[in-house]
Amino acid sequence: MQQMRFNYKTLQDFTADLVRFNLDLPISTDVSVLQTAVSVGTKAIHNRLSIQPMEGCDALADGSPGELTFRRYERFARGGAGLIWFEATAACEAGRGKPSQLYLHESNVGSFAKLVSQTRQAGLEATGRAPYLVLQLTHAGRYGDGKVIAVHEPELDNRAGVDPGKPVITDAELRVLEDEFVAAARLASQAGFDAVDIKACHRYLISELLGAHDRPGEYGGSYENRTRWLKNVITKIKDAKIGIEITTRLNAYDAIPYPYGWGCDSEGGIDLTEPKRLVRELAGLGLTMINITIATPYLKPHISRPYDQPGRNGYPQPEHPIIGIARILNVVKEMQKAVPDCVIVGTGFSWLRQFAPYVAAGMVKEGWASICGFGRGGFAYPDFANDIFTAGEMSPRKVCISCSKCSELKGAARLTGCVVRDSKVYAPIYQKFLEETAGK
Ligand SMILES: Cc1cc2nc3c(=O)[nH]c(=O)nc-3n(C[C@H](O)[C@H](O)[C@H](O)COP(=O)(O)O)c2cc1C
Repeated sequence: MQQMRFNYKTLQDFTADLVRFNLDLPISTDVSVLQTAVSVGTKAIHNRLSIQPMEGCDALADGSPGELTFRRYERFARGGAGLIWFEATAACEAGRGKPSQLYLHESNVGSFAKLVSQTRQAGLEATGRAPYLVLQLTHAGRYGDGKVIAVHEPELDNRAGVDPGKPVITDAELRVLEDEFVAAARLASQAGFDAVDIKACHRYLISELLGAHDRPGEYGGSYENRTRWLKNVITKIKDAKIGIEITTRLNAYDAIPYPYGWGCDSEGGIDLTEPKRLVRELAGLGLTMINITIATPYLKPHISRPYDQPGRNGYPQPEHPIIGIARILNVVKEMQKAVPDCVIVGTGFSWLRQFAPYVAAGMVKEGWASICGFGRGGFAYPDFANDIFTAGEMSPRKVCISCSKCSELKGAARLTGCVVRDSKVYAPIYQKFLEETAGK
């Protein structure tokens, strides 16, 4: 049996596997379309490549960006991607996933403003153009210290160590949280971000609400109730005339069977009826860009970020990763087709290594996505966009090899980056982590 990993020397080898597994992905070896601009609201994003949000777990104690945070965004900006989607940043103290997660509040908005201006400046210096900057606002929900939950899901409760009898966040608390997100959006605008992302993915708190079929009250049960929180916050930010574009990183499919999952049937298969309805409604509320992702890394990482190596605490891929990549990208396609006038940012390009530009160009040409985002690939190869634009290709020597070491570091709340390609900084950190956790 062929190994279940990236094992292709040529694009022909890769496309042969697409045929072998009967998978549909568009390919274009003419990548010039990736260099075209696209409008988001009143501004332009100057190419079709994005850095996806990637937590570096390197904030200062008060939630301000740390030294490695500044370094990361400078590298991203110099790398030439037109869109930089900043990592999960807590919108309130209780929503912080870990003490090393970014947290934006009134007392540190100045340090975020510095991060924004330095990132913009670095992009301008290196490429002549400033990247478009989105800040992802989050509430970590069950993955934060307080283990705040919107609804119980037995498997996730079990994994996150949540007591099945623990009370869920109340409707009154959710109403307060709406206003906390509006306040954080105002600060994001003050800091100079172009847009703010109300994060609704990966089964953090807001994503959990979308699948809260079993929750009583205003925010659970019916479709209207489950999507209420997200729509309320978007409407409130819009009405507040904060002067910032609004977007969301949205799970289109949780990979958790109904009645617990969003975008799922009772077998855990994909049912995009509600996610499509939601993106149409969000477009109606004025969103011009939405970032699409799937699943949760805490339960089914092979679905949310297909890998070759699982990492020490992971499990081997139960399917060939190319199948997982085609799953995500076909969901992205369905969502883009649902809102053809909206800029859909697609997830799922890193595992494709040096063939990613050809799939990305195919996706943009065929209307499967408007912008193509790289997560782990951004850590490994921050200047992938420059290489695509200048050399027409990505170097196999610089690509992400989906070894899952960055995921291991993040899971342990250690300083997180690419251990393989940015080894000067992150190999010693990983080594120390191995030594400290040996035998655990
Ligand atoms: C170390 C690490 C940190 C991540 N941080 C975030 C984050 O802050 N916000 C988010 O929405 N997704 C986060 N993700 C998910 C990625 O943005 C992306 O969806 C995932 O890695 C799949 O894309 P890729 O195949 O290009 O890596 C993270 C993933 C990893 C491995």
